[in-house]
Amino acid sequence: MEQEEFISKYAVDRHNTSSLKWDALEERFGNADLTPMWVADMEFKEPKAATEALKKRVENNVYGYSVVPEGYFKTYQAWQKKRHNIRLESEWLLFDNGVVSSLYTLVNTFTQPNDAVLILTPVYYPFHDAIKDNGRRLIASQLVEEDGQFNMDFADIERKIVENDVKLFIQCSPHNPVGRIWTEKELATVLEICRKHHVLVVSDEIHQDIEIGKRKFISALSVEDEKFHNDLIVVTSPSKTFNMAGLLNSHVIIPNEKIREQFKIGKNRFNHTDESILGQIAAEAAYRDGEEWLEAVLEVIRTNYQYVKNQLAANVPEIKVADLQGTYLLWVDLRGLVAPEQVRQFVQDKVGIAVDYGEWFGEDKLGCIRLNLATEPQFIENAVQNIVKFAGQYRK
Ligand SMILES: Cc1ncc(COP(=O)(O)O)c(C=O)c1O
Repeated sequence: MEQEEFISKYAVDRHNTSSLKWDALEERFGNADLTPMWVADMEFKEPKAATEALKKRVENNVYGYSVVPEGYFKTYQAWQKKRHNIRLESEWLLFDNGVVSSLYTLVNTFTQPNDAVLILTPVYYPFHDAIKDNGRRLIASQLVEEDGQFNMDFADIERKIVENDVKLFIQCSPHNPVGRIWTEKELATVLEICRKHHVLVVSDEIHQDIEIGKRKFISALSVEDEKFHNDLIVVTSPSKTFNMAGLLNSHVIIPNEKIREQFKIGKNRFNHTDESILGQIAAEAAYRDGEEWLEAVLEVIRTNYQYVKNQLAANVPEIKVADLQGTYLLWVDLRGLVAPEQVRQFVQDKVGIAVDYGEWFGEDKLGCIRLNLATEPQFIENAVQNIVKFAGQYRK
């Protein structure tokens, strides 16, 4: 599908739809007129097949207790195999009401109060919350930036694991907010360190389908011929891929039977909820018939990324843009142009957008922002043009 055709068919005005991104601007940012480029969902209707499947279910008019739709596993398994060459067995797949819910359950299930949990910062802020809210010790290893690409510091990771007796490592792959798709070698190195020190790994792969550059996503499940299956939990969801976060359906994939049984007990104790039938119906249809839709969305994100990158490089080279390999979330470092304490004023009062601020992801990241590119190009173009227009007022 051509980009213009996709946009004319799927772009949607989300005002007054109880959208967190659009309808909570006053509450969250103090200004309802900003253009929202913060929370990670899209201004595109979900794939038609998903909507049709939901309509059909709604016509049934009954929303009683449910079981997982019959074809779900096969459809999801085929998607995982085709797009990422992941081998999935049906027993490994459990359901939850969202990846963040799973992170909270996992922290509670597999660690004790005051245990140390490792994350690589800057990282999606609920990772921090799931550790701190549950009274665990947050251990952060900083990613190291080199020419716009963020890398793991393996020596630091290992030292922090040993020094703090880390029990659990939560990794983000692809990494929100710096856009990395980790290579197999990087994944193997960090997984090997964890294995050596008996650290259980949770790999949040919710952004797995959002591949922007040439690099293909590799699941922790597949690294070195499934070598790390014994100490691994992978969480995924159709919510980023098909823009259906509000339907509250996600996956917890656990190859090791003992860990899987422990998770089931933990879920009963800490988050005893049922599955989302509407979420599963929409997801199954999207995994079956939504590939063309996804490819079209990816093209829009690529276009938006190239636009931001090229325009800023040409007109405001003081602003550094991360190399976007995966996710639709672009990490932008404004510190070369704007004093960190003036970033909010620049972003909201001048550029007129709502973004996720760097300090939400890591303490020393004040002055960076995260831009959501899964939107209509006109919003991105306006924002970038405003950045260019007002940059002169901030130039040192
Ligand atoms: C890395 C990561 N994990 C989890 C989530 C949220 O998942 P859910 O809505 O299923 O809780 C997001 C949303 O942006 C994310 O970026």
